Amino acid sequence: MAVDVLLGLQWGDEGKGKIVDVLSAGYDLIARFQGGPNAGHTLEFDGKKFVLNTIPSGIFFENTMNLIGNGVVIDPITLKKELDKLKDAGHDLLAKGNLMIAKKAHLILPTHQLLDAASEKKMGEGKIGSTLKGIGPTYMDKTGRNGLRVGDITLPDFKERYQKLVAKHTSMLQSLYGEVVDFSEREQAFFEAIELISKFQLVDSEHLVNDYLKQGKKVLAEGAQGAMLDIDFGSYPFVTSSNTTTAGACTGLGIAPREIGEVIGIFKAYCTRVGGGPFPTELDNELGEELRQLGHEFGATTGRPRRTGWVDLPALKYAIMLNGVTQLVMTKADVLSGFEKIYVCTHYNYQGETIDYMPYDICTVKPEPVLKEIEGWHEDLTGITETSQIPAKLQAYIAFLEQEVGVPVKYLSVGPDRKQTLVLQ
Ligand code: GDP
Ligand code: IMO
Ligand code: MG
Repeated sequence: MAVDVLLGLQWGDEGKGKIVDVLSAGYDLIARFQGGPNAGHTLEFDGKKFVLNTIPSGIFFENTMNLIGNGVVIDPITLKKELDKLKDAGHDLLAKGNLMIAKKAHLILPTHQLLDAASEKKMGEGKIGSTLKGIGPTYMDKTGRNGLRVGDITLPDFKERYQKLVAKHTSMLQSLYGEVVDFSEREQAFFEAIELISKFQLVDSEHLVNDYLKQGKKVLAEGAQGAMLDIDFGSYPFVTSSNTTTAGACTGLGIAPREIGEVIGIFKAYCTRVGGGPFPTELDNELGEELRQLGHEFGATTGRPRRTGWVDLPALKYAIMLNGVTQLVMTKADVLSGFEKIYVCTHYNYQGETIDYMPYDICTVKPEPVLKEIEGWHEDLTGITETSQIPAKLQAYIAFLEQEVGVPVKYLSVGPDRKQTLVLQ
């Protein structure tokens, strides 16, 4: 049995949460492998809506287990809030026993968030536009070999280890940024949340996942963010601090590359980005605003308005190559209903040349998109349940994209609800 991977091919918010939820019933284990509470994955069913930040999107199915893998960074306070909210809604994960947490996952401390905020403030206009969840500083401590891990919370000297790291952070805050704001309340909340987390099954997840595979069980790795936010291949430095690509599933769960099966890549029928950094197909105009309103493009985690634009084929092809995508999911096609014309970027004009790939530097030299016009469709898609109901012009749009990227679109999402999903082939 192989591990299938589902991940975003743009700049995040492609609809990963919704599609993982749709697919969950077919898997024994759903595992998050990177990122942290910078993610906001939205699920809708039975008239209810949930936004998950750290918890995998498979928790609503009786027979599906869920794992927060070693590659994830966990903010105990956010995780407790998520758990409390779910409990209030009738989903007590502790009682259900359907959530496991990797001992090797790193902890986000309140001071990591202060460092994130101070760094962004110092950068001013050129800031990354981070979610301020402490992601960058936590991964820095991980690779700097200073980090605290979930497994450490059971050690007798956990508090001393915590204090040691906090002392380092406060001295950095003082010397680099000249201020340390009071975090005593958050510190108290941190330790309360740690209490709760210690009651969950804390596991050696690499053994667990490999045992699942040996037993012939099905595993789906759930990505966060998107390929263009990958630390190595994204629009650096306007990226997140983890590998968001398929390779990240290997290191973030402890599985060998040969265990990877299907790679399901998600993209919107248009494109969005939240935070700073280049976005070649951005519509910084009324049309972009219309798309934002129609698509409700506001961040699930921070509420910030998302920037909107057209599908960017050089970027999409790059993401498909990096991830080894075998199946595509197109989401939010319903949002484009009623547009007379839609556009797709097929090439860039870049430094006097027309190119069809993502160049090294898109941050200082902006690639100008070369756009192809596509006939829009007018039909409302939100109620369609059969592939025969897909408007011909949307079918032509999908066929054009498939031909360009060489990978089939297997699922079409036509609304936020679990039921608004069509299997195409
Ligand atoms: P994720 O981070 O990739 O899980 O995506 P988000 O949850 O941050 O953002 C996707 C948003 O689009 C959420 O509000 C979803 O409920 C919504 N959504 C997902 N698929 C569709 C779709 O096909 N059509 C519409 N209209 N909304 C969708
Ligand atoms: P999901 O999983 C969209 C963006 C931030 C910022 C950059 C770095 O919901 O798709 P960070 O807090 O990671 O240091 O921020 O990355 N970003 C996301 N954008 N969706 C996300 O997650 C994101 N996670 C981070 O806006 O530009
Ligand atoms: Mg999101």
